[in-house]
Amino acid sequence: MKATAVARSNIALAKYWGKRAVPGNVPATPSLSITLAGLETRTTVSFDAALERDAFTLGGALVDGEPLARVTRVLDEVRALAGFAHRARVESANDFPTASGLASSASGFAALVRAALAAAKVEPAPGGGALAAASRMARRASASAARSMFGGFVALGTGEGEGDDPAAVVVAPKEHWEIAVVVGAVTLAPKNVGSTSGMQHCRDTSPYFPAWVEDAPKLFAEVRRAVLARDLAALGAAAEASALRMHACMMASDPALLYFQPATMTLLAEVRALRAQGVGAWATIDAGPHVKVITALADAPRVEAALQPHCARTLVAVPGDGAEVA
Ligand code: DP6
Repeated sequence: MKATAVARSNIALAKYWGKRAVPGNVPATPSLSITLAGLETRTTVSFDAALERDAFTLGGALVDGEPLARVTRVLDEVRALAGFAHRARVESANDFPTASGLASSASGFAALVRAALAAAKVEPAPGGGALAAASRMARRASASAARSMFGGFVALGTGEGEGDDPAAVVVAPKEHWEIAVVVGAVTLAPKNVGSTSGMQHCRDTSPYFPAWVEDAPKLFAEVRRAVLARDLAALGAAAEASALRMHACMMASDPALLYFQPATMTLLAEVRALRAQGVGAWATIDAGPHVKVITALADAPRVEAALQPHCARTLVAVPGDGAEVA
């Protein structure tokens, strides 16, 4: 009744931001991400009849409140499938800063779902295969986690025509394209507004939210086309537009949702300066101040050197594998 799984973070090139008004955490916008090698969460789940409640540790520290409640909701789905009520011990560790816009919830919930299903020895009901079912389960916990179930270039739709219950799908395997994501972490501190509440606030108060939702499928289609065609300039331009339009929508919320810090702007200026020098580099930013730069693998050292003076930490990631039982 014990299993360990590893899952990697992902970076969305076409962003998911906002939920459709249906139950089950269904995105309002289609998204496409790269699963990243080397940004890993490792999670062990042990179901134990002797436990009175679920216990969750992250990096060795006991976690309760809403994060524990989210873990328990995933475990409840697995317990319902397995037909038992045993509580579980969940031990999780990231090899990168938690809650800092490096998408730890994506790798975290993907690893949790895979480990819990393996520990309970249940295969979720088919409908595109066991991994698709695991991806749907991960999406219900955190939509970006649905994408980390798979490796390479991965899309998640909005569920229309899929029974309002989308699973992520592989657009291309990691071998399709040797591309690099240079992560520039401007701080190692946790962010102050999480994605779930941030997108809810944006939907409720930003006059730009309907425009964001209407426009997003066009950028998603362009990102998908550019990935399949290995067209870096087109991909970069569409990915940067997706991130900046999402942030415009956030900033138009009331009160404004402003994830940028001064260093964020400095990094955006560095990326523009690189482009002016002929280096193919494009920025994307999630619900945090960090800047991630999409570039050719050969240009990654030069991009990292340009970001490094303004960052608490930089790293270069390449496309990686999906969630797997360790
Ligand atoms: C900005 O997947 O963390 O990183 O579904 O509420 O858990 P919940 O949100 P989450 O949101 C990720 C938002 C994003 C863009 C993206 O990854 O597509």
